[in-house]
Amino acid sequence: MPNLAARMSRAKPSAIMAVADKAKALKAAGRDIISFSIGVPNFLPGDHVYAAVRDALVKDSGQYGSNRGADALLDAFLKHLEQGGLTGYTRKNIATGIGAKHVLYNLAEALLDPGDTIAFAVPYWTTYVDIAEIVDAKMRLMPCPASQDYKLTPAQLDAALPGVKVFLFNNPNNPTGMVYTKAEIAALADVLVKHPDVWIICDDIYNRMVFDGVGYHNFVNARPELRDRVIHVDSLSKTYGMPGWRVGFMAGPEVVAQAFTTLNSNHITNVPEIVTAAAVAALSGPQDVPAQRCAEFQAKRDLVMATMESIPGVVCPRPQGAFYVFPDISCTFGKSHDGAKIGSDVDFCNALLQAKGVACVPGSAFGDPNALRISYTCPTAQLQPGLDRFREFFAELT
Ligand SMILES: Cc1ncc(COP(=O)(O)O)c(C=O)c1O
Repeated sequence: MPNLAARMSRAKPSAIMAVADKAKALKAAGRDIISFSIGVPNFLPGDHVYAAVRDALVKDSGQYGSNRGADALLDAFLKHLEQGGLTGYTRKNIATGIGAKHVLYNLAEALLDPGDTIAFAVPYWTTYVDIAEIVDAKMRLMPCPASQDYKLTPAQLDAALPGVKVFLFNNPNNPTGMVYTKAEIAALADVLVKHPDVWIICDDIYNRMVFDGVGYHNFVNARPELRDRVIHVDSLSKTYGMPGWRVGFMAGPEVVAQAFTTLNSNHITNVPEIVTAAAVAALSGPQDVPAQRCAEFQAKRDLVMATMESIPGVVCPRPQGAFYVFPDISCTFGKSHDGAKIGSDVDFCNALLQAKGVACVPGSAFGDPNALRISYTCPTAQLQPGLDRFREFFAELT
């Protein structure tokens, strides 16, 4: 048999899905499992989205669509950007893809040649590494441990950027839930201005899920001269409870949006017509679903943090966005639970799942083996029992 392409030896299936699969298998075997593993919003979009889809089915052209995205979708996204404080873009600055994951992949293809360097902070969303490896880019990782609230400092960024082609920034952050304040964004933007050869990709897909009045801030508004190098990435998945609909966007320089459109023309061709109708309805319809969900997530964040703060030894910077908490549990290394030795985050997550039926993702999947990720999107009725089991597990460690 001929060989697969060399890049496939670098491509790995998602570590997050592996935990979710283990939890699913235990559930199928009859165990009572509470999953804190996968980052899917546990709600559906409003009725207006389904009404728009029914209408689109009646009118369906069945034809190929625009490689960039239908005008109605581009316009709806432009309005969405404006509502989020990003003005001055036109259709030529926008392109659409099959979810933010595809958008990020397309951008990597458009901006990185083999051997170019991409820089990003650790902990990172797992897919960043996988995409960099597939396009054969070098990675410059900037470690941001719990002791610095998982946030990148201006000095760190300044030291890391020489020789870098793309800086990839994620705010609000998966897996930590941390959100950069206006002052922090301004300080990082000042550094970026000093490095004119670097493209800046902002993975902002959680920008509507920010708590405590911190607000969502971005480099372009902090330093407008960065506009011709910043590419915003957004998606319907988390904001509108539509991960399976697969709609993502980029907004940035025309030349990048055009390159993106050319790539689309050679693989996906277009976001399908029916999905486009759903996306337009979600973006332009009532915004009460995302606003309500954001308030619910903030209340859930408070519940999770109350538990984290009650466990001696756990260090857990307080997240202010998305729906993740990322406690440092390295205080447990060297201890045991019911005979199971805990030497790592993976041991911890396995023992927790076996003993208590609670599934979390080991931090090493995100580059930080001292921590684990809790995604708190499960129904509220499961959240407190899951947290109680988590606390019990710690109390039973010897
Ligand atoms: C930081 C981050 N970026 C991008 C994505 C991909 O989102 P999408 O469902 O739009 O592909 C995710 C999904 O979990 C994410 O957490």
